[in-house]
Parts: sequence; C-alpha cells; structure tokens
Amino acid sequence: MRILVINGPNLNLLGTREIGIYGKQTIQELEKYIKDWIKCKNVELRFYQFNSEGEIIDCIQSNANWADGIIINPAGYSNTSIAIYDCIKGIDIPTIEVHLSNVFSREEFRKKLVIAGACIGVISGFGFNSYILALEHLITKLR
Ligand code: DQA
Repeated sequence: MRILVINGPNLNLLGTREIGIYGKQTIQELEKYIKDWIKCKNVELRFYQFNSEGEIIDCIQSNANWADGIIINPAGYSNTSIAIYDCIKGIDIPTIEVHLSNVFSREEFRKKLVIAGACIGVISGFGFNSYILALEHLITKLR
C-alpha cells in the first residue's frame, strides 16, 4: 500500500512556530513518528511539505498514479483553496484532511474547511496522532 502525506505552508516551522498550539516537535520528528509507526505494516510512504499551493497540486497530480491513499494537512490553504479541492476531486484516491490543532476550537476563519468536501473525512486536534489515525483508517479501508 502506498500513502502520500502532504503538508502545507508553514508546517516547516513546526518546533518554533506558536509552540503553545503546535508544540516543540519539528516536521522532521513528525516524519520519523509516522515512519516508525508504519514499520512492519507493509506501507510505502512519501512525505512532503510545500509552502505554495501550486506545488501541492503538482505533487498530488504527479503521485496520482502512485498513491493508494492521501493524507493532507493543507494548513492555511484549508480555508481558501478551491484549486486543491478541485485537484482532489479530479483524482480518484481516498484522501483524509488532518490538522494538528483542533481548528474548531480556534478562530472563526479556521472553521470553514473548503477542501474537506473533497475528502473522505477530517481529523483535527490530535497532534501527530491526527496523521496516525488517518493512516489507521486508510490501512483498514484499503486492505
Ligand atoms: C493547521 C491548522 C490551520 O488552521 C493552520 O493554518 C495551520 C496548521 C493544523 O495542523 O493545526 O497552518 O492545519
């Protein structure tokens, strides 16, 4: 099984960015956490972070023939990107949107998730485990 994990803008700043919300762990630690969890589960993983919308779309399109499932944290694009919504709609791959923080307990503008309608579900508020919960579902669903 092949899973594509995409992280959106500013997630490269994890570890120093708004520590009270996102914690002190870095994106490299997130990648390791996920890779350690999938060991022995027969899952191939590609893990990326991009700051721009176009790069996220290019990555989804260029992995569309590779990935069986996608986990995406669109970060700040979650609330605005019809282009990423269209891209996910345009490929036929089960996609889960994840957030480290609980976006529903934060500012109003974070609560309207534009991309979520193209996804099979959303997991928000469980830190690194948001990604693990998404992986668990994809592994169960795709096997
Ligand atoms: C985030 C939540 C978004 O609202 C925010 O713009 C982010 C990170 C999260 O993982 O909690 O950059 O996606």
